[in-house]
Amino acid sequence: MCGELSHLLDKAEAEAQGIAATYRNTLDRDDHDMLVLAFHRAETLAEFALQEAREQVPLKYQAELDEQIADEQRHISVFAHWLQAPPSVPRPKSRRRPEVVWYAVLLANEIAGYCQFHMLAGLLADASHRAAVEEIARDERVHITRLTRWLRKYAGRATWGSVTQVTDAFRRRLDTRMQQFLPRDELVDVRTAMSSLIDTLLQDALGLADSSRTI
Ligand SMILES: [Fe+2]
Ligand SMILES: [Fe+2]
Repeated sequence: MCGELSHLLDKAEAEAQGIAATYRNTLDRDDHDMLVLAFHRAETLAEFALQEAREQVPLKYQAELDEQIADEQRHISVFAHWLQAPPSVPRPKSRRRPEVVWYAVLLANEIAGYCQFHMLAGLLADASHRAAVEEIARDERVHITRLTRWLRKYAGRATWGSVTQVTDAFRRRLDTRMQQFLPRDELVDVRTAMSSLIDTLLQDALGLADSSRTI
């Protein structure tokens, strides 16, 4: 993978690491525990969403979605292992969505995950934990590239409006999402920095998908 998207992802990685460096000393042990718990939940919800999408998109996408589901299962197991007694995550009510809306929802979640994993990697002192999170982020990069590619076939079409609609709703909820990971009042600046990073990367990736530029 090379080109413009790769460049955007490299830039976001560096910025997430920069945010981690800025706030490393602000976060305490409980904040770290909270992050691990929230990542376990988020990755489990990601797997549920993928399973649902798999049943609703054309057959030719299923092999790659199966690969992605297997990746998410590996990610969940990393956090489950750290938690030792991971809580069960309830499966949300199932939803029917048009194919294009699934790709947009999944892309938004992957982009948020990618940025947050790089922030987490930057926070971790333990080298083996950091390597495990960097490996997860590498998978998310593949997922982002794939979903951006799938969204491209809708570029310039009337249905692109539904992409904007769901991703705008996702962007408006970014602050609430960050609160699930870093709930302490004192961490408002970290949440704001992360929301802004995710927001920019999502907009840039969508801009790339909705253009004729090389991904
Ligand atoms: Fe993941
Ligand atoms: Fe993913």
